Amino acid sequence: MSKHMSANEKAYIAALRYQWLTPMYDRVVKYSTREHTTKHALLDMVKIEAGEHVLDVGCGTGTLALMAKTAQPYALVFGIDADKHILDIAQQKVRRQRFHVQFSQSWADKLNFAPNTFDCVVSSLFFHHLQWQEKLAVATEIMRVLKPGGRFGIADWGEPSSLVMRYLFKPVQWLDGYSNTQENLDGKLKLMLEITGFQSIETVKHFNTIFGTLSLHLAYKPFNS
Ligand SMILES: C[S@@+](CC[C@H](N)C(=O)[O-])C[C@H]1O[C@@H](n2cnc3c(N)ncnc32)[C@H](O)[C@@H]1O
Repeated sequence: MSKHMSANEKAYIAALRYQWLTPMYDRVVKYSTREHTTKHALLDMVKIEAGEHVLDVGCGTGTLALMAKTAQPYALVFGIDADKHILDIAQQKVRRQRFHVQFSQSWADKLNFAPNTFDCVVSSLFFHHLQWQEKLAVATEIMRVLKPGGRFGIADWGEPSSLVMRYLFKPVQWLDGYSNTQENLDGKLKLMLEITGFQSIETVKHFNTIFGTLSLHLAYKPFNS
């Protein structure tokens, strides 16, 4: 498993495992994950409104954050990622599209935002990069920065809808690691949301892609937390 180290020596799995593949990320993901359809479905699910604060965790090249800003120009959109190189691509895209989306380098389990900041947190193709304890730590941190009643939308690899989908997922496991991705296949993202105290947890949709089944999950921070 090729992991990259950040300035403070913590390890993370880069978008396509090897840093030299990062410039190709957008081209690879566009068709292989049905990106337009799945990311729009995620945004339709969370329904961002004018004036809302939105955070994209593990934002990568910023595609989802930019789509969120395009869909709702009056939202305040932020994106964080551990990888400086991929954030450089996100910044270039923001400049080209002349949108105001604020990207910053950060660990997902140590977000530099005050408690109860965001109305909505989204995350796409990110949680399968994390080991189980990291998944729990990140979901806990997302709970902290969400406002009471805030919503959390995830698009990520999920339980395969057929044996064919299971086999198609093998290259992703080779690229991104086995135990961390197996948890997604075993449906453990819902368990992660339950353990960390989210409520009204729902798997809203599944999409079959050439690399397996992608699932959308929606959950809410309780009003009384
Ligand atoms: C497969 S990419 C997904 C990018 C984007 N969200 C998308 O849908 O295309 C996963 C991203 O998670 C980031 N990442 C991995 N571990 C991280 C961590 N612990 N904290 C923050 N970002 C992390 C990687 O740098 C990478 O950009």
